[in-house]
Amino acid sequence: MTDSRLLRGTLVGFLNDPGEGDTPEPGSVLHIEDGALWLVDGRIHAVGEYTTLAPHLPAGLEMVDYRGKLILPGFIDTHVHYVQLDIMASYGRQLLDWLNEYTFPEECRFAERAHAETVAEAFLDETLRVGTTTAQVFCTSHPVSVDTFFTAARKRGLRMLAGKVLMDRNAPEALTDTATGGIADSERLIADWHGRDRLGYTLTPRFAPTSSREQLDAVGGVLRNAPDLHLQSHLSENRGEIDWVAELFPEARDYLAVYERYGLVGPRSTFAHGIHLSDGERKRLAQAGANIAFCPTSNLYLGSGLFDRRACREAGLNISLASDVGGGTDLSGFGTLKAAYQVGQLLGQPLTAWQGFYRLTLGNARALHLDAHIGSLREGGEADLVVLDPRATPLLARRAARTRRLDELLFALMILGDDRAVQATWANGRCVHQRDAVPTHRVS
Ligand code: GUN
Ligand code: ZN
Repeated sequence: MTDSRLLRGTLVGFLNDPGEGDTPEPGSVLHIEDGALWLVDGRIHAVGEYTTLAPHLPAGLEMVDYRGKLILPGFIDTHVHYVQLDIMASYGRQLLDWLNEYTFPEECRFAERAHAETVAEAFLDETLRVGTTTAQVFCTSHPVSVDTFFTAARKRGLRMLAGKVLMDRNAPEALTDTATGGIADSERLIADWHGRDRLGYTLTPRFAPTSSREQLDAVGGVLRNAPDLHLQSHLSENRGEIDWVAELFPEARDYLAVYERYGLVGPRSTFAHGIHLSDGERKRLAQAGANIAFCPTSNLYLGSGLFDRRACREAGLNISLASDVGGGTDLSGFGTLKAAYQVGQLLGQPLTAWQGFYRLTLGNARALHLDAHIGSLREGGEADLVVLDPRATPLLARRAARTRRLDELLFALMILGDDRAVQATWANGRCVHQRDAVPTHRVS
């Protein structure tokens, strides 16, 4: 039996990077005012004008009526810690103290399967409620925190990347592994989960200060043998962190050189933050094809600094967008875009709605090398979607009444929107979150 239905609404997606200008690059935006997506068995079977598709639809096909709403590819979060959900909004510290006072004690709780299961489910409920359908997720150093996360994601049919934190020093004993033990656990998890349904494995050395040279070297060895794995870590987030890395690795000419030395900087590598990079580091990252996850709510919340998006672009460096919860204050892509816009304003490089929504969708999919599967509204692509209501709140409705321009509607959503603007979220061709009942009809 095939699983098939039609979604009708205004389609908005990207075919390419729209650039930084107020007007998107020609051919970069897909916008169909009265559009339709025909979903079959988890994929987009056909996409186009409703009136063009209508004559080809089988009688009896269920049609979900999202007219007046915007249908976009599901949002992607390239760097987030599911295990930090419950320490969001912890007061008053910057990175290294925040890790010691809030983060590490919380992560200790994930030795217990029941706790990990509860938080994994709550995290996925929240991410779907804000329209995020794929994330690259930090677990803890406990393998059970990864097993429970992947189990929960698989049950919901989601495309997710995740991995076990590797750290064998400078952290509480209850959280540290060993160079060989951490790799053995990672290899077991890779064998169990990588490539299973829609799941992929991300090697996850926490950051240079919490790994020995032996551990970093062993991670590089795994990556060399399995270049289809992802890798994520943190880089140049906080001045105190950078000084500490210089003390711990005096042989390295800069922070990035630590990761380079062990073969960790490649096209499937994501480094969160990258706020205090030199031009040389940006260029080297660009040459390696790695991406920096810009985490604006976290960078502001932890007082880490202002990320210079323009300098990265000029170096040819891939930038992705991420929440970095629980350092971040908002799982919602809207929250990330709003903070990115505000940071951009302070640096004289405001983010357009075109660029912002491109990054949340196709841009992030490209950064993670997942664009063959997700990130766009194209035939054959996986049916992960978010349905936005540009009139979801009284304020948004007042704003929307002033304009019919798509970029203005999107910009209002990015500044005023939150989970209330997410009418529904679809993953793998199925509705996985819905705010209000929506009319459905049968095609006759
Ligand atoms: N650097 C090392 N670990 C972390 C973490 O959990 N969050 C953030 N924001 N930075 C880190
Ligand atoms: Zn992080």
